[in-house]
Amino acid sequence: MPWICGGVSRCFRAKGPVRGGRLCETITTVNPKLEGSVFLSACRRQPVPYTPVWFMRQAGRSLPEYRAARRRTAMVEACTKPDLITELTLQPLRRYQVDAAILFSDIVVPLRAAGIGIDIRPGVGPVVDKPMRADSDLRRLRALDPGDLPYVAEAVKTLVGELGTTPLIGFAGGPFTLASYLVDGGPSKNFDKTKGLMYGNPPLWDALLRRLADLTITFLRVQVDAGASAVQLFDSWVGVVSPEDYRRSVLPHSRRVFDALAGSGVPRLHFGVGTGELLGMMGEAGADVVGVDWRVPLDDAVRRVEPGKALQGNLDPAILLAPWDVIEQRAVRVLDAGRTAEGHVFNLGHGVLPETDPDVLARLAELVHTTSARPAG
Ligand code: CP3
Repeated sequence: MPWICGGVSRCFRAKGPVRGGRLCETITTVNPKLEGSVFLSACRRQPVPYTPVWFMRQAGRSLPEYRAARRRTAMVEACTKPDLITELTLQPLRRYQVDAAILFSDIVVPLRAAGIGIDIRPGVGPVVDKPMRADSDLRRLRALDPGDLPYVAEAVKTLVGELGTTPLIGFAGGPFTLASYLVDGGPSKNFDKTKGLMYGNPPLWDALLRRLADLTITFLRVQVDAGASAVQLFDSWVGVVSPEDYRRSVLPHSRRVFDALAGSGVPRLHFGVGTGELLGMMGEAGADVVGVDWRVPLDDAVRRVEPGKALQGNLDPAILLAPWDVIEQRAVRVLDAGRTAEGHVFNLGHGVLPETDPDVLARLAELVHTTSARPAG
């Protein structure tokens, strides 16, 4: 499909024959302030002056200002308050030289908006009132309308104004991970009930994941329409699925999500924990950037994904609890391995641990920039 350029900074994918407009070879950015974004360029495998960096869970309990701001507000409630969402999203940017912000929200937000009784318990995670296991449970998951998430759209619009030249990453939970909370009922070690449904009742599994993909598409579209300039699909727990089952039971649903966003032109990132055996298929599903956890070195990950993909990752978050010289050595190794990829976004191999010292993250962001700086020209 061709790209049509309707002006200096507005490109979109043409559905029908190209009429008027100039054909673009590469995707450019909708927001002109983001034209120089190093993060977006790396996602698009374009040349960059240094390796961009952000941290999964850069907002959160590792920051004392986060704990103070959240003191009187439950997590699920915090995700519905635009002022608080804005403040919590911006907090890490005041400390770290990160190249992108990530919207403060949670993967359960669209589920709650669609009528599911689901809470986030401190120190536990998402817990549902009534797990979904039977055909009749599907009825409880109604379709989502963009108007059901006004607080998300409002927060994103405010943030895009405040962030200026820094891109905002929108996100959602991947189909397997969302299903795992609904079916197992909460956090789980082995996801037995979820996998039991996947193996035992494929029609119900497919119907459930189809609905979850629809919710996810709406959640992500609300964020992109309001100005988010990249999206990350977190299928955090899909690493418990075998490659064969991933291809049959998960990939088609993730692909629908990525296909639905293809026309928006925003880079699509995809991440899961323990997904070493699935990296190629996660790219095939339609991600532009494949996230890698700490188990697979990035130069190995390059060989597992098809050409035309950038990589994101992958310092073990637990390394940040070690002395600085260990952190430095390991971070440089990640940068070296990342150079073998067509594009590299530095990140941790999973989210920042609550006990992480924010000063260490600040130092790490600086190290990534200085160590990776490439001479101009
Ligand atoms: O800074 C950021 O990365 C943006 C904010 C963000 C949150 N959740 C806020 C949050 C993001 C991207 C998420 C995604 C999310 N939520 C995922 C995928 C990413 C991953 O970590 O794999 C998952 C699996 C969830 C579900 C969830 N929500 C869990 C497992 C937890 C942690 C439970 C705990 O207390 O240990 C949450 C709660 C949550 N979401 C917190 C934050 C900052 C902690 C809430 C608190 O302050 O008590």
